[in-house]
Amino acid sequence: MRIGILGTGNVARTIATELVDTGHDVLLGSREPDGRTGPGLTFVTHAKAVAHGEVIVNATPGDVSLPLLRRIGADALADKVLLDIAIGFNEDWTLTHPGTSLGELIQEEFPYTHVVKTLCTMDSTAMVNPTGLEGPSTVFLSGDDWAAKQTVGQLLGDLGWPESYQLDLGGIRTARGQEHYALLFIGIALTTGSFGFNIKVVPQRA
Ligand SMILES: NC(=O)c1ccc[n+]([C@@H]2O[C@H](COP(=O)([O-])OP(=O)(O)OC[C@H]3O[C@@H](n4cnc5c(N)ncnc54)[C@H](OP(=O)(O)O)[C@@H]3O)[C@@H](O)[C@H]2O)c1
Repeated sequence: MRIGILGTGNVARTIATELVDTGHDVLLGSREPDGRTGPGLTFVTHAKAVAHGEVIVNATPGDVSLPLLRRIGADALADKVLLDIAIGFNEDWTLTHPGTSLGELIQEEFPYTHVVKTLCTMDSTAMVNPTGLEGPSTVFLSGDDWAAKQTVGQLLGDLGWPESYQLDLGGIRTARGQEHYALLFIGIALTTGSFGFNIKVVPQRA
């Protein structure tokens, strides 16, 4: 699949490397593509990455994602699947979109783009190596478009997430649960001294 990634940081490179390794055609979009290098990775402008991708991955800081998407433009993003991993934080680690979510705001402003929020409830190492954790865990999907969630589900499979690990929470409004969980995630990480964990939804015994 042709994939355009917005951002060239920790998450973008981790996801890009795994997607390239599993046979996808990936371009990373940067503000300064000429200054970026990485093994097996190709860096271009945001416009080129978006034009290239059937799926666009948002791996930019959540407080700048909306202005960036506005600059790219609704026409360029129309009919694309936007796999949104971003969370907006203020300097004091409070959320930039309390009471709602970045995922919902993007969907509202770009109605012809199919936003699917996922992968934002864990550290980047777990995003591409769920079997490196001590047991099965859960990755969540939120989005209004069923077909887009199917596409993202397949990509999650390529990143190592079997279908049985994937939990579709429903429409994009549920993205706020994923984003707001970041506050608990940080609390757990600071308390345990490690970012290398994930959560699992454990049902009651029958
Ligand atoms: N790190 C994690 O484990 C993790 C886990 C869950 C969710 N997330 C979320 O995933 C997103 C990416 O996280 P990250 O750790 O990869 O961040 P990062 O390492 O800081 O990378 C973000 C990238 O976005 C681009 N960028 C920065 N400022 C920008 C601006 N003003 N306008 C446009 N592009 C800009 C930069 O690429 P260029 O300089 O090349 O343009 C930068 O490399 C964030 O929203 C974060 O909250 C991260």
